Amino acid sequence: MTRKFDFLVIGSGIAGMSFALKAAKFGKVALLCKGTLSESNTSYAQGGIASVMYEPDSFEKHMEDTLISGDGHCDIEAVKKVVYEAPSQIEELIRWGVEFDKTEQGLFDLHREGGHSEHRILHHKDNSGYEIQESLIRQVKAHSEIEVYEHYFAIEILTQHHLGEIVTHHTPNIECYGAYVLNQQTNNIHTFLSKITLLATGGIGSVYSTTTNPDIATGDGIAMVHRARGIIKDMEFVQFHPTALYHPGERPTFLISEAIRGYGAVLRTQDGKQFMQKYDERGSLAPRDIVARAIDNEMKMRGHDFVYLDVTKMDADETKVHFPNIYQKCLEHGIDITKDYIPVSPTQHYLCGGIKVDLNGRSSINRLYAAGECSCTGLHGANRLASNSLIEAIVYADAAVKDAAKYIDSLTFNEFIPNWNDEGTSLPEEMVLITQSFREVEQIMSTYVGIVRSNLRLVRAINRLEILYRETEHLFDKSVVSKEICELRNVISVAYLIIKQALMRKESRGLHYTVDYPGRMKQEGL
Ligand code: FAD
Ligand code: SIN
Repeated sequence: MTRKFDFLVIGSGIAGMSFALKAAKFGKVALLCKGTLSESNTSYAQGGIASVMYEPDSFEKHMEDTLISGDGHCDIEAVKKVVYEAPSQIEELIRWGVEFDKTEQGLFDLHREGGHSEHRILHHKDNSGYEIQESLIRQVKAHSEIEVYEHYFAIEILTQHHLGEIVTHHTPNIECYGAYVLNQQTNNIHTFLSKITLLATGGIGSVYSTTTNPDIATGDGIAMVHRARGIIKDMEFVQFHPTALYHPGERPTFLISEAIRGYGAVLRTQDGKQFMQKYDERGSLAPRDIVARAIDNEMKMRGHDFVYLDVTKMDADETKVHFPNIYQKCLEHGIDITKDYIPVSPTQHYLCGGIKVDLNGRSSINRLYAAGECSCTGLHGANRLASNSLIEAIVYADAAVKDAAKYIDSLTFNEFIPNWNDEGTSLPEEMVLITQSFREVEQIMSTYVGIVRSNLRLVRAINRLEILYRETEHLFDKSVVSKEICELRNVISVAYLIIKQALMRKESRGLHYTVDYPGRMKQEGL
């Protein structure tokens, strides 16, 4: 079955839904997600969303903090764009019904997190993402120009390749005409034709065995663009959050927000000693890459699986008011955070790289935009500053709509795209082969491509991945398409891109630390 929309939006997090709400002024929108509308990284965001609100904060300070955190690899124009446009996008969120916490004086209650020199994190208690997600869902559901497709899995974006042309990385003017999409309830594959497509497919946490990301985070958009010969950038910069609750076997890992360190919590080794000052004068509030590496080092030196986060010195009632979900969740695990130390360890959390886009959110493929975590705008450089991703997503979704609106009326649907051909395929005999290969990818990445890397480990990882790649492509060619086999292909592609780009970076910078090149090459950006 073929459907036609002016805008095809793949992803229902902050990037996809904010784009859809604005694009709907210019045409009909299809909004797809592979789970329910609520299943997204956005829903899980805790700390909040960064924006300069009041003095003594300033745009210059927010820019400087972002650049320092990005470790000389940021695109300064992207940084300027996000920082300066943030306040107006916060207003937009408020118009859409998002409620940010306020002080008794009626001002926004701003938190501070690692790497921020000022209080500038707007938040809704400690579940800011859920508040944003649910507010946007209410708006999307009420909009007559947006058709929502839940449990629709995008398999491939459509390009000239699907018209029989040979498309390579050197093909000029690759164009996107929409996507092949699997209806997971009927198992039918639909052709969604569009004039403009936005990829807003989120993160890649499922590539690792422990992550704060929900299961949807399989990097599908990045893998689709890679297969379509688009440009993918900065994949080596995988962010590990320093303080995820240590509870082996739990997936996703529960996050203990960085805002709690901004509030006064400190890190301690298992013998109760503070250690962060040894690594950085900013102590527990140093940027994430530094804190995660310091914890990793302390754990390895001592043979420990976790360190402690101590918030017991703060006022107990205030802690419960500011962090009610963290308080409750820890209590369920027998930890009263007002009295007990919280066991934490670093866990995969965010990807700074992704689909390369320009200042208008345009990817290297015509008619294809990307926004949010699947994109690489250059804002984060080599290490994202806390709470800069929700704001990046909404700023770039806005830029993408504005850009697309300028020429959408000149575009037509490509009616020559054939329907999906599944001749010669059959149901995979052994589903266990897919789940086992998935586990192997997670193991490879967590064992060899973690916080501290080396050439030896990276080469070992890519060799093992190569075998999985060949087996999976063979399975894919002869199997009826399922979400599971597509996700496996995608995590293999994403893992390959991370390792390949890590091997190419012959220095240590930001989140990419390798014992073979502990120093850095000439500074870029800054
Ligand atoms: P997501 O919100 O992840 O949405 C992705 C969407 O894509 C989903 O709807 C999914 O179904 C859909 N999708 C994916 N693949 C397909 C496919 N093949 N077909 C159809 N649909 C598909 N950032 C901050 O700025 N501040 C914070 O406080 C903060 N806290 C965080 C806490 C946690 C625990 C986590 C995990 C992240 C946090 N982040 C935070 C990061 C931030 O939440 C994410 O980077 C951001 O929400 C990503 O938004 P997005 O719109 O790009 O993608
Ligand atoms: C957190 O609350 O620590 C997460 C913030 C972020 O990832 O930006």
